[in-house]
Amino acid sequence: MHPDIDHILIPAEQVQAKVCEMGQQIALDYAPLGDVLFVGVLKGCIMFMVDLARATPMLMGLDFIATSSYGKSTESSGVVRMLKDLDTDIAGRHVLIVEDIIDSGLTLEYLRGHLLRRNPASLRICALLNKPARRIANVAVDYMGFDIPNEFVVGYGLDYEERYRNLPYIGVLKQEVYQKPY
Ligand code: IMP
Ligand code: MG
Repeated sequence: MHPDIDHILIPAEQVQAKVCEMGQQIALDYAPLGDVLFVGVLKGCIMFMVDLARATPMLMGLDFIATSSYGKSTESSGVVRMLKDLDTDIAGRHVLIVEDIIDSGLTLEYLRGHLLRRNPASLRICALLNKPARRIANVAVDYMGFDIPNEFVVGYGLDYEERYRNLPYIGVLKQEVYQKPY
């Protein structure tokens, strides 16, 4: 375990098992439609997006969108800014947004509105992690991996100041790492 991690919340094997389960379910649901477009929300989605796509045995497209929210680095401010838009025309496509974590829900609420204006055939949301305690915007998530407590987590794509994304597990960061005395 990395020394900055207080404890492991979800071990790598459990993450992988859940992602496989989610991929199977998505394939079951979308197979009759014949096609799906995964839209990953950079950068937190990267590991999840790659593993989920490999676990979903059907014809699909992959695209990415990037947003940022201003504010303290362990809390989102609610102001969402678009950094990179889609390359794909989604009109008439079955779109699945792939997110690392839903916290306040403000990012997903914003993205939902943004994508719906382009008339996709359908729009669903998939998130690996959910922090129900922090929800502000009431967005319906169609595929959810794990509910987690209100703690700041890193690993499997999730970062603190761009570090720890490569950890294979979901871990709780030691408070002293992000509450350094000045
Ligand atoms: P929102 O509050 O639901 O809009 O979440 C916005 C973004 O904040 C997520 O997509 C993550 O990138 C990031 N985020 C929220 N909670 C955590 C966390 O515990 N660790 C790392 N990133 C987080
Ligand atoms: Mg994110």
